[in-house]
Amino acid sequence: MQTPSRSTLGRLEKAARAAAARAYAPYSRFPVGAAVLGGSGRIYRGVNVENASYGLTICAERAAVMAAASAGERTVRAVAVYTPTRLPTTPCGACRQVLHEFGPEALVLCVCDAKGRIETRLSALLPGAFGPGDLL
Ligand code: THU
Repeated sequence: MQTPSRSTLGRLEKAARAAAARAYAPYSRFPVGAAVLGGSGRIYRGVNVENASYGLTICAERAAVMAAASAGERTVRAVAVYTPTRLPTTPCGACRQVLHEFGPEALVLCVCDAKGRIETRLSALLPGAFGPGDLL
């Protein structure tokens, strides 16, 4: 899939940073924002939504993928993630798997409160992934 332009990635990063303001993270106090670029070119935001039953928490990346899929998107071209950290961090294993469903080669952009950033591909973060093609 074609790599998104620099300006589109800039918009995606802005959306992820802005989304974090709406995170529901009363337990961890770690607000995360994510933005997914769907195949249509539209951008979908997500935040982490925690729960008093801690294990039911959903990460920002998965929330953004669910928003995209719920709007009818079936491919993810890129995802940007903002974490309130000094160094950028990459999506957790569960989010990598969920992203794989729609964007096995998606661009993954990780940004934080400092200048550092990580730009990679989902396929580099989740090699040998199990996916739709593996089902009988
Ligand atoms: N979290 C995310 O939303 N995305 C990440 O990439 C890292 C972790 C959330 C889950 C939980 O609400 C909080 O951050 C602390 O782990």
